[in-house]
Amino acid sequence: MFIDKQSPIPMYHQIMENLKKQIEDGTLAPDTLIPSEREYAERFGISRMTVRQALSNLVNEGYLYRQKGKGTFVSRKKFEQPLQGLTSFTEDMRQRGLKASSQLIDFTKTVCPDHLLPVLQLANDDAIYELKRIRLANDEPMAIETSYIPEAFAGDLTRERLTGSIYEYIETQTGLTIAHAKQELEANVASNEEAHMLSISTGDPVLSIARTTYFQNDIPFEYVLSVYRGDRYKLIHTMER
Ligand code: GLP
Repeated sequence: MFIDKQSPIPMYHQIMENLKKQIEDGTLAPDTLIPSEREYAERFGISRMTVRQALSNLVNEGYLYRQKGKGTFVSRKKFEQPLQGLTSFTEDMRQRGLKASSQLIDFTKTVCPDHLLPVLQLANDDAIYELKRIRLANDEPMAIETSYIPEAFAGDLTRERLTGSIYEYIETQTGLTIAHAKQELEANVASNEEAHMLSISTGDPVLSIARTTYFQNDIPFEYVLSVYRGDRYKLIHTMER
């Protein structure tokens, strides 16, 4: 790394740009321990304050993470999830060349709770499946998803049959095409239970997503509450004026 003290570009900014470049081109691999503030300060003959500012900014931007008593490390690159297309978790991972898998936490067939009757356009006493799954990418937990699916669209779903994509299963069962969805996104922090399932710490940032998904005929077939890891996901959408 080279710091030009004569440059009008502030030194903290030069350090940031240098480190970002090394992270992006892979010179600094994920989970690498980077030198301490003191080491950087000595190496470049600059103040620790300047180094601290650069490193703090990079932590805030998600390039680095700190571990108490251990130091500062390079973050893994976040998944960039476009918000335009309607895809399943399995399809997303396939597109990234990763292996999608699930750990089934809960599988219940029950009467649709009152608050979901209008959402799923169901009548009193209609049955739904409630599935809670941890979704994994190359065996690393990414999200917890709790899906509510009317019985009518999932036929005789069993734990054993729910091995892969629920979207694939539903389209095969019904012969209908999945077409569009409505999503609400919120920032949140992981509860004890969520942190445990996602292998993160309690209070870490997560993204809460509520999705209602419809077939081409505008009939809703699922309501899903998802909790995505904030350290692994970045949601991207484009806007036009
Ligand atoms: C994504 C969505 C969920 C949806 C799931 C289906 O993860 N956030 O709302 O239920 O995909 O995934 P799959 O078909 O792989 O089970």
